[in-house]
Amino acid sequence: MRRAIFPGSFDPPTNGHLDVIKRSCPLFDEIIIAVLNNLDKQPLFSVEERCDMIREILPSVQKGNCKVSVDSFSGLTADFARKSGATAIVRGIRAVSDYEYELRMALMNRKLEPTIETVFLMADEEYSYVSSTLMKQVFMLGGRVAGLIPELVELRMRNKLNADK
Ligand code: PNS
Repeated sequence: MRRAIFPGSFDPPTNGHLDVIKRSCPLFDEIIIAVLNNLDKQPLFSVEERCDMIREILPSVQKGNCKVSVDSFSGLTADFARKSGATAIVRGIRAVSDYEYELRMALMNRKLEPTIETVFLMADEEYSYVSSTLMKQVFMLGGRVAGLIPELVELRMRNKLNADK
């Protein structure tokens, strides 16, 4: 049984995230999308809202025989991976600029849990500039984000924006 976790903030999930999930499915029997409950940060969406959004979007992702589930976690990613029985941590790399940060995290996670490998996957170049932060900023300022985030996420962001008015 090859089980991996795909950790992240997912605030909000983007089409880049979905592309990484799709690409990781053929490599593993099971993937747990691990949504960080980061108490230091003030996210746009609560951890429950982020998990629910991902669960609602997942049926549209091509998964083959891979079982994909969603869970939230606090604390160290390496601890969550070990407790989940995972042998790999999946992370997406968009551009060289991501590499340094990702390398440091991968090496730290390996120091913490030597048996767990980080697997880097390159998202489609179509999403090379797509980040949750950029999507939130552009959307909140009235820019077009269609095709870069799932429609459901756009709808939820619109609801947030209207609720704040
Ligand atoms: O989607 P993000 O924000 O790039 O994800 C970053 C994440 C959640 C993978 C990273 O911040 C993380 O692993 N946080 C949990 C705390 C932890 O384990 N820190 C040490 C990592 S070396």
